[in-house]
Order: sequence, then C-alpha cells, then structure tokens
Amino acid sequence: MSTLKTLTPLFNLDDVPAPRHTGNGFTGQDVISVSQFDRPRLDYIFTRAREMRAMVKRVGASDLLKGFVLACLFYEPSTRTSASFIAAMERLGGSVIPITQGVQFSSVSKGETLADTVRTLEQYADVIVLRHPEIGSAQLAADYASVPVINAGDGAGEHPTQALLDLFTIQDELGTIDGLKIAMVGDLRYGRTVHSLTKLLLQYKVSLRFVSPEILRLPLTIMNEVIDAGLDVRETHDVADVIENADVLYVTRVQKERFSDLAQYEEVKDHYEITPELMARAKQKMIVMHPLPRVGEIHYAVDADPRAAYFRQVQNGMYIRMALLAAVLGRA
Ligand code: NCD
Repeated sequence: MSTLKTLTPLFNLDDVPAPRHTGNGFTGQDVISVSQFDRPRLDYIFTRAREMRAMVKRVGASDLLKGFVLACLFYEPSTRTSASFIAAMERLGGSVIPITQGVQFSSVSKGETLADTVRTLEQYADVIVLRHPEIGSAQLAADYASVPVINAGDGAGEHPTQALLDLFTIQDELGTIDGLKIAMVGDLRYGRTVHSLTKLLLQYKVSLRFVSPEILRLPLTIMNEVIDAGLDVRETHDVADVIENADVLYVTRVQKERFSDLAQYEEVKDHYEITPELMARAKQKMIVMHPLPRVGEIHYAVDADPRAAYFRQVQNGMYIRMALLAAVLGRA
C-alpha cells in the first residue's frame, strides 16, 4: 500500500468537516490491487456496503460526501463501473467530473501523458477513478497523484472493485464463502475480474475450478498462487465437468480487445453458452454470476432463473463503491 495521502476538499470547506482518520486504514489510500484487502478489511467494506444498501432502500441518498469531488477517468469503454461510481458518489451527496465518454474528447487525444492528466485532475478532485488499457497504469497514476487513485481496471491486470462486489455478492447470496465450490468459466487469461477475484478467494477455504479453452487458461503466476495457498483446484475445458457440483458459476466474456490475432479470437469466442438445459443439471442452491457485458455466454432464457445473480451483482457494485469512496475519503 502506498503512503498516506492528504485530502483536500475543494469547496464548502466550512461546511465539510476535515476528513476523519477513523482507523479503518483506508483514509487517503489508493485502491490498486486486491492484495490490499485482508479479511478484516473485506468484512469492514462489506458491513459498510450493507449499511449503504439499507440507507439507499430507506431514503435514497445521504450527504456523507457532500463537498467532495470524484474524477472518473476512463480510457476504455465502460457502462457498469463508470455509472456505479458516479451513482455512488451522487447518492452520497458528492459530485463527479466524468471523463467517461471517451478520452478522445480530453487532452489525452492531444498526446497528454497519464501522469500529467492525473496531476491535473487532482487539482479539482479529491479522488480519481481510473480505467486504462495497460497493466500497471493505476499504480503509475497513483505514484503521481497526491489524492487517492482507485483502479477500475488496468488492462488484463486487475479490477479490484469488481472483485469486491463479486465476493460481496457470493456472501450475500449464499450466506458464506468458506466451503464453496467456485467455477470460473471463459477467458481466464485476459479476464481481469477473474484475476482479482481468484486472488481474493485465496483468503478463504474454497475449491476452485477453472474452465477455459486451452489458449485462455489462467496465467501461470496466478495458478501458482492458488497452488501455494493449498486450495483444492482443477482445470478443465468443459463446463459439463463442473456444473453439477458448483455453488458459484462465474462466467466471463472472451476479451476480444486483448487479442493481437483476431482469427484466434474467432476460434474461441463461442466456446461456452450457459443454457437452461445446462442449468437443469446444476444444484438448486447455487448462483450464476457474470461481471457483464455478456456477448453470448449466458442464454437470455437463463435470466428468469432465480439462480441468475448477475443483475443483483450489478446493484451490489454501487453499494460497494459507496462504501469504498466513503472509506478512502475518511468519512467512514
Ligand atoms: C469487466 C471489465 O471491464 O473487466 N466489466 C466490468 O467492469 N463489469 C468485464 C468485461 O469487460 O468483460
């Protein structure tokens, strides 16, 4: 974890109490990787997310982050991550500088570096959320920024806030994480959500099943971490091998934008489809998850199945991001 950063709300300084150091350990911190989250910190964020959910269901919004500004800087397409960060900030009374409609409309298109862009945005904002196509970009931005940087996806690297909401969803839906059989399906090589979620799960007593075409297997470095953690783990090419025992089926899209050879993408893109027929073989108490967007991996007919959790997962993303923003801004 990088050094503590000083928070400077830009306006309403009289109205907004100085950020409190609550001892939760998040205040002023960057969120770059799931390796920053041990179980007490996860429990803390999940508890806060539940409080946020209760608050939203009861009254819709609060002014916890009134006077704080979030800069949302997205160099890659996004629907859920950007919208949920914006909704999270606004439901907590804060405001947003949205650079989410494509950096082609910002000075990035004039050749400005990431370092200069974040050093500019921190002049206006108290926290920066960044999505960027390069692995390591979030850490680079954090090295330059004096306000907290939250990684919203760095290429095929990590997507820590997605993994937090994924783990929260598993706990929320199934009541526990320990003891579960979790199968990840699809593009395990380039899928950053899989990378982050797998690393988080190393802290729990779970069985992991990785289902992918040969060329999209989980990177060896992550597989070695799984083995070192002593978890029960197996790899297969076939969903049929895991469907009957899985408590969680975590399905992912083949990440077309990461392929240098599009012919190779064409070969694997339609490898899996979760259908009602396949679901008929799954446990009654299990869930199907997907970080979304889906592009054919889950048949629309599965949506009506109560075990389809992917849109509930989307909603949880907002509560998790509300909890995280409050935590890094010292308003926990
Ligand atoms: C994911 C991403 O951007 O990594 N989407 C998301 O944030 N929910 C998954 C994907 O694009 O396939």
